[in-house]
Amino acid sequence: MKLSDKTAIVTGAASGIGKATAKQMVSAGARVVAADINAPLLASVVSEMSASGGQVTACVTDVGDSEQIANMVQCATESYGDLHILHNNAFSNVIGSATELAEDDWDRTLDVCLKSLFLGLKHAIPVIERSGGGSVVNTASVHSHVAFRNHAAYDAAKGGVVGLTRSAAVDFAPKVRVNAVLPGAILTGAWKGATEIDKKPFIDRCPMKRLGVPDDIASAVVFLASDAASFITGTTLVVDGGLTIVGDP
Ligand SMILES: NC(=O)c1ccc[n+]([C@@H]2O[C@H](COP(=O)([O-])OP(=O)(O)OC[C@H]3O[C@@H](n4cnc5c(N)ncnc54)[C@H](O)[C@@H]3O)[C@@H](O)[C@H]2O)c1
Repeated sequence: MKLSDKTAIVTGAASGIGKATAKQMVSAGARVVAADINAPLLASVVSEMSASGGQVTACVTDVGDSEQIANMVQCATESYGDLHILHNNAFSNVIGSATELAEDDWDRTLDVCLKSLFLGLKHAIPVIERSGGGSVVNTASVHSHVAFRNHAAYDAAKGGVVGLTRSAAVDFAPKVRVNAVLPGAILTGAWKGATEIDKKPFIDRCPMKRLGVPDDIASAVVFLASDAASFITGTTLVVDGGLTIVGDP
């Protein structure tokens, strides 16, 4: 799963899955543009990776904003001259059912979790094609397949991520492969404030009897991004320790 001589953009790279993926990509030999909305956290993560010898550039980006996504792609070409891999991974989410959510909260969740992927493809695909081809890996979720109470906007967005992944895989083959990873319950910033009582039902239900860690997902992303997955496109790789295969009530 080597990524030597590849340039990658990772969004949501200041924390959790994005941070682990950026680190694994650097270890696999890639040059990485690390993009995140949280400027101070991004600066500290990037300086940590640079100190250990990685080629990493920080690009403060709100993926909910069209111009900033264009700028993020430009940052890759200005820094490294090319682009081969885009990992669309950043998210934000407002909890609520359809009757509870404010329209603005619905719009923001859909902008950050779904529209950002459309904009990422729009700006990055021509550059990836000019660079000789490559791979897009979208972070979807088990929420793409099953509903969780009070997650109307997030469930809708993550369902859309899978649809857009397949659509883009068809449109941009054979030069660009497009796949999605579907994490289960992964211990990241998304679980900030969760107590042991909150976590227990997920651990009990999961056949692997633990929550996932960011590196569990990062390994799957690096695999899909690499030439080891050269005949895989349009697929959804569930990485949830079996959480969603259990049929028992
Ligand atoms: N952790 C889980 O249990 C879990 C499960 C399924 C799917 N996911 C998905 O994994 C991905 C990564 O989430 P995580 O668990 O690592 O969470 P995290 O909170 O640790 O990291 C998310 C990162 O996204 C950044 N971000 C938020 N809004 C942004 C914006 N508008 N523009 C750019 N960056 C922004 C945050 O600053 C943060 O660094 C998300 O797509 C999430 O939906 C996570």
